[in-house]
Amino acid sequence: MTDRSEHNVSGRSAGTRGFGRRSFLMAAGAALATPAILKTISVARAASPAEITFSSAKFFGKRTVAEVVDLFNQSQGEIRVTYDELPPPSASTEVHQGLVQRLAKKDGSPDVFTQDVVWIAEFAAAGWALALDDVISAAEAAEYFPGVLAACKFDGKLTALPWFVDSGMLYYRKDLLSAAGIAVPETWDQLVAGAEQLMKAGKAKIGYSWQAKQAEVLICDLVEFIASNGGSILGPDGKTVTIADKPAVEAVQFMYDTIAKYKISPADVRSWDEEPSRMPFTGGDVAFLRNWSYVYPISQDAKTSSVVGKVGVAPLPHFAGGKSAACLGGYQYGVNASTKNRDAAVTFVKWLSSPKTQLTFATELGLAPSRPAVFDSAELGKAQPFMQTLKPVFVGATPRPVTPRYSQVSLALQSAVSKAVNDGNVAAALAEAKKKIESIVSA
Ligand code: GLC
Repeated sequence: MTDRSEHNVSGRSAGTRGFGRRSFLMAAGAALATPAILKTISVARAASPAEITFSSAKFFGKRTVAEVVDLFNQSQGEIRVTYDELPPPSASTEVHQGLVQRLAKKDGSPDVFTQDVVWIAEFAAAGWALALDDVISAAEAAEYFPGVLAACKFDGKLTALPWFVDSGMLYYRKDLLSAAGIAVPETWDQLVAGAEQLMKAGKAKIGYSWQAKQAEVLICDLVEFIASNGGSILGPDGKTVTIADKPAVEAVQFMYDTIAKYKISPADVRSWDEEPSRMPFTGGDVAFLRNWSYVYPISQDAKTSSVVGKVGVAPLPHFAGGKSAACLGGYQYGVNASTKNRDAAVTFVKWLSSPKTQLTFATELGLAPSRPAVFDSAELGKAQPFMQTLKPVFVGATPRPVTPRYSQVSLALQSAVSKAVNDGNVAAALAEAKKKIESIVSA
């Protein structure tokens, strides 16, 4: 199965016993029910509520996005949100298509949506995302991590509101490393050596698990390998294509070598996205894994993980002379520029992005807050301790190329890099990708 959220369902179910949907809603509702809100509810219930729709990729942890939407609906009577669920984020191309089909109709539906950080420029340039500058004050904007806020802007306008920040990280088996006297790897060479040693000793079937499927996640891994060798895909001007430069060629060569030369990664990684790469790790067969933060809570749930208490999380390794790099991921909120219910839509996105709701998403769905105050809170420290340890990784993550044509750039890269990690003709594949991307960004 490649649906990461379905695995989260079973992965999280142990922790939810005796804490049903109703009691969750009641507890959370009680927390929200300040006297001022109660007053609003009793006054507002009399009139018929404003109806809005909300589309999002499917995220699922101990709770679902649908249940968080229910929380909103039950907290007040002025706005009624209907939720429309798209595929999970690992099916990035399908989620993108679903949103484009809906937004391009410009009929106001959905009123509110979530978007991968890489689509913000495209949706803004198409005129589909409402600029929020006059409803989000400078003081409110300053409450977010500057990197995430910057990613929510296009042409100087705030066309998205931050939801969560995702970044790639290295999961490792603490128990295996310490028993073998292996330090947590800081360079790719050290990772290869550690993985080979553990595989030879029969301690791990797979040395390094990562995602080389021809999909968006391959570009996330690609960014990390290339940036950790001092390279990039596009230059800072957004036009100069650097994907065929030496640091990128060396990085992609290394991606191929993990499979074909060092054999620390099985040939199967070529068809793995997030979940297939995660499952053997939580099954106890893998020494090192690259993945997002959603994996940690799953790895610590005895119901689906055989490595509870044995998992460490660290910044990804880098090439000699380079620096560790994590790809910036995450989904953010958008308001449809054609909405017929602007006020209700804005009220709802503000609630979604509020400190309280971000904390709910972090503790219940493993999604890291984009607000430093929530990220640093004692509640988050208790629920997801690894997040605070890795704060510099989240805050310093490297964006994928920022361009309204990102989807086309990504598809060109996915095809070229997938070819390169299959046949090892790295320089040729990247030279071809360069040509294609040049014509896309200069069109
Ligand atoms: C994660 C990231 C998202 C990325 C996707 C790729 O969901 O948050 O930014 O595009 O993975 O699979």
